Amino acid sequence: MEVLMRTMFQSLGKNHSMNKLAKKYGLRMGAARFVAGDSTESAIQTSKELNNSGKVVTLDHLGEFVFTEEEARLSTAMCIQTLEAIAESGVQSNLSLKMTSLGLDISKELCMENMRRILHTARMNNIFVRIDMEDYLHCQISLDMYKELRKEFDNVGIVIQAYLYRTEQDMNDLHQYQANLRLVKGAYKESPEVSFPEKKDVDENYKKIIKMHLLNGHYTAVASHDEEMIQYTKRLVRENGISNDQFEFQMLYGICVELQDRLVKEGYKVRVYVPYGIDWFGYFMRRLAERPANVWFVLKNFAK
Ligand code: FDA
Repeated sequence: MEVLMRTMFQSLGKNHSMNKLAKKYGLRMGAARFVAGDSTESAIQTSKELNNSGKVVTLDHLGEFVFTEEEARLSTAMCIQTLEAIAESGVQSNLSLKMTSLGLDISKELCMENMRRILHTARMNNIFVRIDMEDYLHCQISLDMYKELRKEFDNVGIVIQAYLYRTEQDMNDLHQYQANLRLVKGAYKESPEVSFPEKKDVDENYKKIIKMHLLNGHYTAVASHDEEMIQYTKRLVRENGISNDQFEFQMLYGICVELQDRLVKEGYKVRVYVPYGIDWFGYFMRRLAERPANVWFVLKNFAK
């Protein structure tokens, strides 16, 4: 049953008509628990509140299904606007983005041009930019582009997914780039030809890559709500004398807030991933797919 629901939400998230419908009707169906509103103002307000509770932020202007050059440029302009709002408001936040929303499926050149514009503005404002990792089809090209950009910019990082078989090799290749990595388990529906089908293997690989990256001395963002992974990281840094400024924990807005607060109290750096914008549907479906129990939360909201 759970597998069925997961597959259903993953497919819905990719459905263009459903996305259009959701855009038209605004933030409903309980999505506001996971998305910080439609506008830049609401994203900055949420960031301020999170900063006041001791957490730093990464803002993500949601933009999925970009098919034209014009849409890609609009999405780039929104990222730049977000960077300017971060700088003006003084909130402690960096930026996360998806390269498909900057035209990756249209042409690599267009996407590189847009990435350079964003990274340039970010560098002028001393803001770090993280490239989210999307589905397997985009993995190789995302890594290739990251490596190219990394030679020009210090303020760029990327994400690595533990569920892929190729991940250990990718980590070895990234070693020479001193990459600032966000490590995640992986959120997309991938085939068993490219990814571990069993959760226990994903978890094992996740621990392996956390250890690899931290012991290699590179900055590591452990992005997980899994207490076992968090305990593992705490133990690892303690046993190896790794200082608190070489890593941070990251969690999604609205998820495991008590755990976030506990980590802040214990003195760890906690960054909250805050998505915002009218293109919230695909993001919301991925969160439901991760945890079908969230559906009860959504149904309760409908009933209110
Ligand atoms: P796991 O799925 O094992 O869950 C552990 C526990 O966490 C659950 O038992 C539950 O208590 C809680 N939990 C997890 N997900 C929840 C949810 N949706 N709602 C409520 N509780 C939940 N993926 C990707 O492919 N590319 C990317 O760029 C990113 N970026 C990213 C940034 C950040 C900051 C985070 C935290 C995650 C991502 N992800 C991602 C998503 C990631 O790959 C993964 O799908 C989710 O984090 C869920 O996996 P966990 O590690 O939390 O563990």
